Amino acid sequence: MRQDRGYDGFIPNPLPPDIEYDDELRLLLRKADAALARLDGVTEVLPNPDIFVAMYVKKEALLSAQIEGTQVSLQGVLEFEANLRPKEDIRDIREVINYIRAMNDGVLHLSSGDLDLALINESHKTLITGTRGSDKNPGRYKDKQNFLGTPGGSILQASFIPPPPAKIEQLMGELEKFIKEKDKLPVLIKIALIHAQFETIHPYLDGNGRMGRLLITYYLYWTKSLSRPLLYLSFYLKKYKPEYAEHLNKVRFHDDWEAWLKFFLQGVIEVSENAIQSAREIIALKDNSIKKLIEHKAGGMNAIRLLDLLFDNTTVSIREVADELKISPVAANKLVNKMEVLGILREITGKERYQMFVFVDFIRIIEKGTRV
Ligand SMILES: Nc1ncnc2c1ncn2[C@@H]1O[C@H](COP(=O)(O)OP(=O)(O)O)[C@@H](O)[C@H]1O
Ligand SMILES: [Mg+2]
Repeated sequence: MRQDRGYDGFIPNPLPPDIEYDDELRLLLRKADAALARLDGVTEVLPNPDIFVAMYVKKEALLSAQIEGTQVSLQGVLEFEANLRPKEDIRDIREVINYIRAMNDGVLHLSSGDLDLALINESHKTLITGTRGSDKNPGRYKDKQNFLGTPGGSILQASFIPPPPAKIEQLMGELEKFIKEKDKLPVLIKIALIHAQFETIHPYLDGNGRMGRLLITYYLYWTKSLSRPLLYLSFYLKKYKPEYAEHLNKVRFHDDWEAWLKFFLQGVIEVSENAIQSAREIIALKDNSIKKLIEHKAGGMNAIRLLDLLFDNTTVSIREVADELKISPVAANKLVNKMEVLGILREITGKERYQMFVFVDFIRIIEKGTRV
């Protein structure tokens, strides 16, 4: 679908639109609310919810960047974080690292602060600085007309022309007001409206997709709909990328908010179920790993303690193992080697010294759906 009104920028009406709730929309909303509540509950029973959340943030960052064409793997990000030289393009990895930082900084801010334009601009700055888009006004609104379409295409072939720079201040002001408004709209409806409106405004020269997706997590955390930032839609939005763009265009040109809302709520249900499933697999992994150790007569005290450590820290060095478990480097080395033979750990540096080991099965659970 294309914009068919010449090539002036499109100016959206302020939120909220009139929404017609049919049975399908009502049912989806109920199901999505329930899925979100279940997701919130499952983190209570995890061995280490913080590490699960941290891993999911990495996963979201990867997928969100992949929607924009960045090609990075979870392995690449973990290597970078372990100070190894990654095999993948460092600029791509930096985009993912920036997204992780923006998410973590944003969430920290929101635990006591407000969701406002200052935070959004600050996050955008973190997102774009030091990447390919760093010449594109990090943290500042666009100063040129932009348009969406095929890369390298002209504005005449644009699928969508967002509002002109002169309108952004006002439109973002209205969006902020809507974000903060205490109304009776269900939170999932509200954030779906906010995301679509943000993408329509397209306030920045680059990074609008990523910033708009960060906003989803921000809003749900800020409104305390989730006690931990754990709902990430990029998995779904990447899987249905053409539909995602199509729905946004239908909102703009046909006022078809209902179809977008249904699409969005389906996504909430799907990604919540996925995350719940992953959490269950992580819980089972603990038992299964202990069983594996015992079967191979490797279930000594230190092995169990190392396993606990791995649930807190999925990448370790011999030295960390020795320090954390308070055992000698020689003993740590032996223990790690045993875990490697059993396939619990895998060495990732390929070097003889300063080796790093990852908790293979944990990573496998998290990385599902992130292979490029
Ligand atoms: N008609 C459209 N076609 C494609 N993407 C669209 C359309 N309208 C809005 N978008 C949004 O724009 C984003 C791309 O904008 P861009 O500023 O390049 O963001 P990023 O740099 O994060 O990729 C998409 O991820 C999507 O969220
Ligand atoms: Mg882009």
